[in-house]
Amino acid sequence: MKFIIAIIQPHRLDVVREGLLKLGIEGMTVSEVRGYGRQKGHKEIYRGAEYAISFVPKLKIEVAVADERAEDVMAAIRDSARAGKIGDGKIFMVDLQAAMRIRTGETGDNAL
Ligand SMILES: Nc1ncnc2c1ncn2[C@@H]1O[C@H](COP(=O)(O)OP(=O)(O)OP(=O)(O)O)[C@@H](O)[C@H]1O
Ligand SMILES: [Mg+2]
Repeated sequence: MKFIIAIIQPHRLDVVREGLLKLGIEGMTVSEVRGYGRQKGHKEIYRGAEYAISFVPKLKIEVAVADERAEDVMAAIRDSARAGKIGDGKIFMVDLQAAMRIRTGETGDNAL
């Protein structure tokens, strides 16, 4: 299994959720977070200028998926979250060791 963590622009949530729904993804977690990337939270950066870092509001989406769906999920998030502008976000993928559905005790892919 893989655990996919995506940091996206907040207004993209609906279209990202629809993209994941189309892939048959059955669950996801969303959190409000703040962060910065290469522009350190500013729209433009001037060479040599010193800037304080600003944290920009983003949404963090977390999705646990079976190995064979991971690439498709990553591509779906990319396609739905992308505006082609700075700050569009990032997607990370890590190996997921275990998952358990608490009500049934199911584990692995069956728990997702
Ligand atoms: N290396 C990183 N580690 C963890 N979180 C990151 C990292 N880079 C970016 N983020 C998170 O992703 C958000 C969006 O990053 P952003 O899209 O601005 O990245 P970028 O590298 O500056 O790309 P771009 O030039 O397209 O803006 C940040 O606000 C931060 O929350
Ligand atoms: Mg950026």
